[in-house]
Amino acid sequence: MLESLSSKVHDEGRQGEAYAPVVADGREFRKKFYIESYGCQMNFSDSEIVASILNDNGFGATGNYAEADLVLLNTCSIREKAEQTVRNRLQVFQQVKDNRPGMLIGVLGCMAERLKEKFLEEEKLVDIVVGPDAYRTLPGLVAEAETGQKAVNVLLSRDETYADISPVRLDSNGVTAFVSIMRGCNNMCSFCVVPFTRGRERSRDAISIVRECTDLFNKGFKEVTLLGQNVDSYYWLDETNGRAVTFAHLLEMVALVDPSLRVRFSTSHPKDITDEVLQTMARYENICRYIHLPVQSGSTRVLQLMNRTYTREWYQAKVQRILSVLPDCGLSTDIIAGFCSETEEDHQDTLSLMEYARYDMSYMFFYSERPGTLAARRYKDDVPEEVKKRRLEEIVRLQNRLSLEKNKEDIGKIFTVLIEGDSKKSAADWRGRNSQNKVVVFPKGDAGLQKGDYVQVRIDGCTGATLIGRPVI
Ligand code: SAH
Ligand code: SF4
Ligand code: F3S
Repeated sequence: MLESLSSKVHDEGRQGEAYAPVVADGREFRKKFYIESYGCQMNFSDSEIVASILNDNGFGATGNYAEADLVLLNTCSIREKAEQTVRNRLQVFQQVKDNRPGMLIGVLGCMAERLKEKFLEEEKLVDIVVGPDAYRTLPGLVAEAETGQKAVNVLLSRDETYADISPVRLDSNGVTAFVSIMRGCNNMCSFCVVPFTRGRERSRDAISIVRECTDLFNKGFKEVTLLGQNVDSYYWLDETNGRAVTFAHLLEMVALVDPSLRVRFSTSHPKDITDEVLQTMARYENICRYIHLPVQSGSTRVLQLMNRTYTREWYQAKVQRILSVLPDCGLSTDIIAGFCSETEEDHQDTLSLMEYARYDMSYMFFYSERPGTLAARRYKDDVPEEVKKRRLEEIVRLQNRLSLEKNKEDIGKIFTVLIEGDSKKSAADWRGRNSQNKVVVFPKGDAGLQKGDYVQVRIDGCTGATLIGRPVI
């Protein structure tokens, strides 16, 4: 289908991931749960919170759904295709359940929140429906479902941040981890379902964030990615001293955990990223030189309809500002092709903006109308599917060219690479990333290196997606 055109789709294009079995601090578990996650990093991070809550209530994880007492799907609603993937997956579980009548099936996350009780009518095999702010009540809902009743909690909260819950890191490489710093979104981009599925924006207690990052570092992790839909609007008031913690302050606090702990963040809304954040990045070498700055469209007219609150020129000035403070900063973006009323000229504006920003990487989508959003209520989804498809193809082709050009410019440079594990293609090579978030592959040789080590690598080749090099000895 059309969506498969996206060369890098970071959410629903990714197959659902199952967690490997946990051996959690020697505890005996009464029952087994299996969890599969779809959507953005926030959802994957939430599944780790759910795993923690379930572990505390006698459920241990299994990587094999056929032996699970409880099967959970953490779902995404961002595009129609994401929801279709979940429905297809439920059909597979239907067959398993036919042979294991006692098995319970729960739907979590954004699709649960969007459809609420309706989910139970549409998908008869589902026993439990839980929205993103109600995971603490999951054990109670499971108990209710065990008595044969359907159990639903889709209440959104103004203050739930799960700050006190220590996520269970399952299926982790032991080197990089995601840390959720806020929940919800107040932005109301007209195409987007997230404000409806995730509720109001709220920031997590900064002290608990720093504690979690310190704990990860002490366990050997070398990189944390601070997560939120709009991290630059992070704001938390420390009531002990009356001090307000902004995102720039928080970045500094996390950077100070240890100079050898890399700090990344996602996502920045162009309207909110401040000079203070850029200056903080410049001050600390361990804050990675990489910003994901979703533009969505290069046409001011379309941006206005999208309610993104910036113009093409304003965005361009932001890119210039970033590069003047951080000349070696990597940049990536999200682009939507074929939004309501988009003309050929608007589309050309998107292509020319991509050339202007010279993104290292993009996540590219075609517009998918989501029920209840401002765009669905106000505008007509009037760009024909084949036009959306062709425009998306042009965007993908351009990005492939830009990525290759940008990677070629790195040939001859030396980067500090954090080793994350074996290269996907060969166990004789390491795979890691540089500060700019580019994947770097290099031969292991006999240098005695390990996962989690930093290495200086000189780049001597590349593809559009990967830099290839050799360690500098
Ligand atoms: N909070 C992030 C984005 C979250 S959703 C931000 O504001 O940047 C990730 C991406 O999905 C968005 O940036 C957008 O490009 C895309 N997206 C969201 N809604 C969409 C829709 N209805 N159709 C197609 N793409 C969409
Ligand atoms: Fe959606 Fe916009 Fe919020 Fe991102 S900032 S989650 S695109 S409403
Ligand atoms: Fe999808 Fe919800 Fe994330 S809609 S992209 S899982 S916030």
